[in-house]
Amino acid sequence: MKIKILTLFPDMFNEFKNESIIKRAIDKGICSVECIDIREYSLDKHHHVDDTPCGGGAGMVMAVDVVARCIRANTSDNSHIIMMTPQGERYSQKKAEELKKYDELVILCGHYEGFDERIRDFVDEEISIGDFVLTGGEIPAMVISDSVIRLLDNAIKEESHEDDSFSTGLLEYPQYTRPIDFEGKLVPEVLLSGNHKNIQRFRKKEALRRTYLKRPDLLEKYNFTKEELELLEEIKKEEI
Ligand SMILES: C[S@@+](CC[C@H](N)C(=O)[O-])C[C@H]1O[C@@H](n2cnc3c(N)ncnc32)[C@H](O)[C@@H]1O
Repeated sequence: MKIKILTLFPDMFNEFKNESIIKRAIDKGICSVECIDIREYSLDKHHHVDDTPCGGGAGMVMAVDVVARCIRANTSDNSHIIMMTPQGERYSQKKAEELKKYDELVILCGHYEGFDERIRDFVDEEISIGDFVLTGGEIPAMVISDSVIRLLDNAIKEESHEDDSFSTGLLEYPQYTRPIDFEGKLVPEVLLSGNHKNIQRFRKKEALRRTYLKRPDLLEKYNFTKEELELLEEIKKEEI
């Protein structure tokens, strides 16, 4: 997969591209992450990319001609173009799963007061990472890129993300590692038993418990098996 990030601050991505799983995925050729400086598409001698809002008011607005030029020069019919905006569809794991299917993602990062409204006609979709306002679209673009890259084949082991929170519709079960006894806090015995059936049952039940306690809204959309419904009934009795 190719990811192109259109931004006024390409240097913000240097560390992002050069650490951990993202770096390994790039080195292995699983994906590329290219940052394109929107400012290079300004034709004015001072490389202005923004202007004051028509009608007055605070802040600066990113200019439609500069941003459109940048989009046109860096996309093809193959590109899926995403605008980062707090006004977009709320991002989710389900959306990350959808985005991983594209060959090329182009992520447009705003800054200042955001974009001239007419830029909306140049994008395929608008995504928000939550109901809050950041200074720019760079961190949201990292959120999208990171969550998609880790889902690409061979970026990490398949098993590492198949039980992740939200992938199954539930929060993930609790995880432990050595030491077995930390200041009297013990790893649950079943996880040391070597009995895979019991371990699976424990994990399923604890994933259900966490979701029931922390994110009951997720259970409203969840397709329960008969066994899971029985486990949930047990949990409800235990949690009274
Ligand atoms: C200060 S914000 C502009 C907010 C805009 N004035 C509004 O109220 O909708 C500047 C840029 O940061 C990015 N941004 C800020 N918050 C975001 C969020 N929650 N999700 C995605 N992008 C966001 C967008 O690219 C936006 O154009």
